[in-house]
Amino acid sequence: MRTRPIALIASLLACICFAGCGKSGPDPASFRYQQDPQLFDTLSQPADYPAARFIVLTDPHYYHPGLGTSGPDFARYIREDRKMLALSDEILEAAASEIQKQPADFILICGDMTKDGERINHLQVAEKISNLHPTADIYVVPGNHDVRNPEAVRYTHEGSKGVETVEPEGFSEIYGAYGYDDAIARDPASLSYVAEPVDGLWLFALDSCLWRENEPGGHPVVNGRFSEQTLEWLEDMLIQARKNNKSAIAMMHHGLVAHYPGNEKYYGEYVVDHSEAIARLLATYGVRLVFTGHFHAQDITVKQFEDFPNPIFDIETGSLVTWPCPWREITISAGQTCTIESRFTKAIDSIPEGFAGYARNFALEGTVGLARDALEQYHVSEKGMDLLAPQIAEAYLAHLAGDEHKPDTVISAKGTGIMGRVVVFFQKDLVEGWWTDLPPADNRLIIELKSNSWQQPDDS
Ligand SMILES: [Fe+2]
Ligand SMILES: [Fe+2]
Repeated sequence: MRTRPIALIASLLACICFAGCGKSGPDPASFRYQQDPQLFDTLSQPADYPAARFIVLTDPHYYHPGLGTSGPDFARYIREDRKMLALSDEILEAAASEIQKQPADFILICGDMTKDGERINHLQVAEKISNLHPTADIYVVPGNHDVRNPEAVRYTHEGSKGVETVEPEGFSEIYGAYGYDDAIARDPASLSYVAEPVDGLWLFALDSCLWRENEPGGHPVVNGRFSEQTLEWLEDMLIQARKNNKSAIAMMHHGLVAHYPGNEKYYGEYVVDHSEAIARLLATYGVRLVFTGHFHAQDITVKQFEDFPNPIFDIETGSLVTWPCPWREITISAGQTCTIESRFTKAIDSIPEGFAGYARNFALEGTVGLARDALEQYHVSEKGMDLLAPQIAEAYLAHLAGDEHKPDTVISAKGTGIMGRVVVFFQKDLVEGWWTDLPPADNRLIIELKSNSWQQPDDS
């Protein structure tokens, strides 16, 4: 995510006005399964998943250091967005050296391949990931930063200069070997496709981004939505999967469902529009697991339905360039047990010792700075900022890490003055939301897909 957790405190009224903005846009047309229940009835039960092992990583936000890592504009970018961009190359290298050792049938990368869609960064990261694993096929989808991005720039001592970005055709060409060239089907209306990484398993790689709405000279759209054409194509492919007795998983950049109370209210652009309808559509046709990124947090949330027996799991993985710099290993057994383990980048070439502490500090200090900036706009006193900013930052970092343990007091306004108390009164729910871990567990999990139950693995 573009890390501005407290920018929204500064835009308190806007947040209230736009509460629920994650549902913007026209309602999707009715789906075929709703209009013709017989269609669904005539399809056989979804196929069991084949045994499969795969790795998920996301949001590598690759940035070629040759594009500049100094100057006033770069400093401002880093200050407003706490990704460890200058280390993205090293972090990817370090993760790859571990990932290479893992047995895997395939690897998923859920978007935000680049800092801001720079063609040179796409070319570089595409080259880098060719060495990610000796045997596993790789599949990517775009993130909101990746296509037709007007903020593609290089940095100089004086400021910044625009560089070439990629159009959708350029994206699918650069990543042709990572899903597009061998797709079973491609959506003519987006960069979505379907692949079969393991016999009997269809991967729905969905482009949830709104690159079509990016304007020259503007900011790239952060929100996510599927067009009516894409939804029509998606349902058609889901029906084909069922008719062909294929099991199905999905990947997309945006969250399928809200990952904490207040996610839709404050950060609706991190959850795909019409998330209920999309989740129900996927679940209806047998998709049980959806892999996502975008918010840079380690969070798994399960969506259950009143009128449908099988839940769907949104398995969000944190960004490689944001603490705790994770990736995940997923194992599906023939017995229909899905085991999820998380791994973390512990060392990089330039920081061989204590990298985790460095990365945490980087995220914490940045978030404290952003919180102070926002609180200052509300004329919160210096002492109030000193007291509130670290509490806000700790809540945010707890959500990034996952498996949050909510403290007795999520935020205390004691001693913060009148304006400090006003801000806490209005936005405590966000801080509380970050401390709230919606089920199930986030980093290690076993899902029994037949019985719809889940548990944390034994440590033994
Ligand atoms: Fe991202
Ligand atoms: Fe993103």
